[in-house]
Amino acid sequence: MTTDWSSRRAQAMPTGVFALMDAAKSEARARGLEVIDLSIGSSDLPPPESALEALRQATYDPATYAYCLHSGTRELREAAAGWHQERFGQTLDPEREILPLIGSQEGFAHLLLAAADPGDLILLPDPGYPSYYGAVALAGLEVKRMPLLEEHGYLPDLTAIAPEIARRARIMVLSYPNNPTTAVAPPEFFEQAVRFCLEHRILLVHDFPYVDMVYGDYQAPSVLSVPGALDTAVELYSLSKSHHMGGFRIGWAAGGAGVIGPLAAVKGAIDFNAYLGIQRAAVAALQRSRSEVRADVARLEARRDALLAALQARGWQASTPLGGMYVWARLPRPWTDSFAFALALARQTGVALNPGRAFGEHGEGYVRFALVREPEVLEEAVRRVAAFCVQN
Ligand SMILES: Cc1ncc(COP(=O)(O)O)c(C=O)c1O
Repeated sequence: MTTDWSSRRAQAMPTGVFALMDAAKSEARARGLEVIDLSIGSSDLPPPESALEALRQATYDPATYAYCLHSGTRELREAAAGWHQERFGQTLDPEREILPLIGSQEGFAHLLLAAADPGDLILLPDPGYPSYYGAVALAGLEVKRMPLLEEHGYLPDLTAIAPEIARRARIMVLSYPNNPTTAVAPPEFFEQAVRFCLEHRILLVHDFPYVDMVYGDYQAPSVLSVPGALDTAVELYSLSKSHHMGGFRIGWAAGGAGVIGPLAAVKGAIDFNAYLGIQRAAVAALQRSRSEVRADVARLEARRDALLAALQARGWQASTPLGGMYVWARLPRPWTDSFAFALALARQTGVALNPGRAFGEHGEGYVRFALVREPEVLEEAVRRVAAFCVQN
């Protein structure tokens, strides 16, 4: 044993569900089962060819080899600003209102350090993306959870936030299309949230990695389109989802200069931006036409439909998502403990799902399927789950 150097901060990091699920998957493999891993929302599809080509070319360009200072990120900032204009009709200043990120998860963690001080209060959705909890612990924030309930369309009830909490809150986090519930938010809800945050001087962080991962004619609204939002809101974008570039670690933050400035200052102490070749790949991906992106995402829509049909044929309840890359289903009866269900399922069948409780206590009673395999594999997964349910 060597000396344990962990800080109180490191000790406060939540131990993820991933380690437990990993052990369960290994057990299944050891028993000769082929694992169908639907527990992680990491796309199995390739990035756009234009993005790969931009990266390839960049590796031959010596101008990309050095540290990338802020001025070097201009091309990506301008591409993102153009994208905002084209997609939402928003006019953002690429100099002061857009900042490249090494993925939205990185941006989120540093944003908390940039915009809040230890002891400040943060309003977090429950269920919510698990890495929020680690970021909040790093920043030393006090958490107040906002329950996302099925009967409220998985939108937090802002009128239920006590005046004392609203007064003390520094940051509110929202994310739609939502992970894990797959819910989407109507523009009126964002108007209400912006009003609430302006009134209580709260920074509204809208984590928006699934902006383009939407189905049919649905278009996910941007909080920044609400009049006045730029003074109280910031959005986090990612190339990980609809562009399948999760391993590239690239995204951007968009918001008022009053939040982008401090975020840039904090990041300046920590990183030197993503490799320029990866930024150029992101520019190429952002320049794809809307219909190209839609065609890509339609592959996930086919998976969604196949999975839902298989689940519904076996009497499982799950709503039809308009966006995101998941299906959020109620636990099959008589199961009530999502952890016990997911672990036993993975060990006995090799099918790995994410237990709802891993996203917070209000996620209990559900499991999340990630649409990261082709339809026939998803159908095979449901067959195995159904057989498991008969035996257990
Ligand atoms: C809500 C949410 N935010 C952030 C992320 C991480 O995105 P990125 O790869 O851009 O860090 C994910 C990934 O699953 C997510 O679901």
